[in-house]
Amino acid sequence: MELIKWTDQYSVGITEIDNQHKGLVIIINELFSYMSNGKAKEHLNNIFDHLTDYTEKHFLVEETMLIKYAYPDYDQHKFEHSKFIEKLKSLKLEFESGKITISLEILNFLKDWLLNHILNTDKKYSAHIEKYQ
Ligand code: FEO
Repeated sequence: MELIKWTDQYSVGITEIDNQHKGLVIIINELFSYMSNGKAKEHLNNIFDHLTDYTEKHFLVEETMLIKYAYPDYDQHKFEHSKFIEKLKSLKLEFESGKITISLEILNFLKDWLLNHILNTDKKYSAHIEKYQ
């Protein structure tokens, strides 16, 4: 069972970025599946670490592309990325200290953040980048 189903409505029209977004969807779905099947906390924490690393790498690729094409809303976009990374890192600390565990509420937060960010923030750069393709 998947928490997120990828559809073309999430495409930003740039294959490399779409593939990375699909990668994020796969990791969140993996977390959901392992959590639903009662996998050990350590296992879930490792996947969450992988999600954080993958997200940081994706943001770096995207930000580098936005700088390359002089995207006018770069600062606001980067700010959203930074806030999300801060949140992932603070969740990671809470998981590691045992204060909280990965829950459906957290997975829904990740899902909502990712899909809203793709639809409302990432998609805004598509038209700008298209002019240079
Ligand atoms: Fe694809 Fe702005 O993250």
